[in-house]
Amino acid sequence: MSAYLILKHLHVTTALITVVLFAVRLLMDLVGRPGWRQTPLRWIPHANDTLLLTAAIGLVVVTPWMPFVHGWLTAKIILLIGYIVAGAFALKPTLSKPFRVVAAMLALVQVAGIFHLALFKPAFG
Ligand code: HEM
Repeated sequence: MSAYLILKHLHVTTALITVVLFAVRLLMDLVGRPGWRQTPLRWIPHANDTLLLTAAIGLVVVTPWMPFVHGWLTAKIILLIGYIVAGAFALKPTLSKPFRVVAAMLALVQVAGIFHLALFKPAFG
């Protein structure tokens, strides 16, 4: 298998896992089980996200796609920063529930935007 296909499979698989693990942690908090923070669920999402971003950098190297040249990719990176910030607020147990719900919705909307940009690669910018 080519480096491109390996990176692409790794990127897409870890992209799906990141959303699943985010949703699982949100749901655990929602049903009053914050104890996941004392389980491997504390570090597995970070390991997955490291693989996701490593594969992303690999894809930028092996494909002609370039951030700040292709608008969809630039927009993807901006939304990624938004997803990380909103996601961190959504999972912070010290913040109020309404604030965390809004942050969770913002995170999910932004990650949906990332998938949309990745799949359709609209030409703009
Ligand atoms: C949460 C973050 C991310 C998610 C969920 C995500 C998701 C995806 C998905 C699903 C694809 C496959 C699209 C297809 O099948 O055509 C893709 C492609 C791609 N992603 Fe990401 N991505 C993320 C972050 C990034 C970042 C940060 C970069 C660059 C620095 C990046 C670079 C790329 C490139 C270059 C492709 C195109 C590969 C190709 O079609 O040949 N991704 N992304």
